[in-house]
Amino acid sequence: MVDLHTHILHGVDDGASTVDEAVNMLIKAHEIGINAIVLTPHVSLFRGFKTSKELTETHFNMLKDKIKQLGLSLHLFLGAEIDEHDHLVKTIKQGYTLEGSTYVLIDFSMRRADVSEILYDLRHSGYKVIVAHPERISYLNFHDLKQLKAEGALMQVSSSHLLPWKFDRASRIAKRLLRQGLIDVVASDAHHMETLLTMKKSFAYVSKTMGNETAQTLFVDNPSKIIGIQEPANERN
Ligand SMILES: [Fe+2]
Repeated sequence: MVDLHTHILHGVDDGASTVDEAVNMLIKAHEIGINAIVLTPHVSLFRGFKTSKELTETHFNMLKDKIKQLGLSLHLFLGAEIDEHDHLVKTIKQGYTLEGSTYVLIDFSMRRADVSEILYDLRHSGYKVIVAHPERISYLNFHDLKQLKAEGALMQVSSSHLLPWKFDRASRIAKRLLRQGLIDVVASDAHHMETLLTMKKSFAYVSKTMGNETAQTLFVDNPSKIIGIQEPANERN
């Protein structure tokens, strides 16, 4: 599997706090069949922390060295999860796409926004927008999300909302998006170990309800294409 949205990079946001915690999460990720991970720290005006790009890159290189020392066959990529805010394009141009691609992961849940208009502007500036966990955006219902998808948004649903025993609002929307074929990528958005583990359980749920091919597309093939992995990472479960 490929995990496109994580907060495993240590000491830069509200995810893993130490390098050891990050390494433990990466070891576990590998154990459950994840072999490529995009580290996507929050870039946010709203959350009370502002981490420099320099620190992020320093920690990224540190983590890559640790993984190499351990001999783990795990590919790390650097990206960002950007909270929607004024001057979004200006922020993105500072280098906050996914692994230098034209894909950007945007969280629209922090404040009410005209998502259609923002999608249009970003597309006009040359970016492809991945909506982070659309099922969690409280001011958009299922039909709004369907419309955004028709307007070209890519949808990244969280693995923790695609579990057989979950029926809260976000999970109900996530499952409806799944049934109607509107999801592009499932990713963990893991801040801690527990959420990371839902990738395996969610893969099993998607595979059981929609077939193995769909699970392969959402957990492996589509995220591989986004970060430019030529040969899709193999699913090992
Ligand atoms: Fe996130």
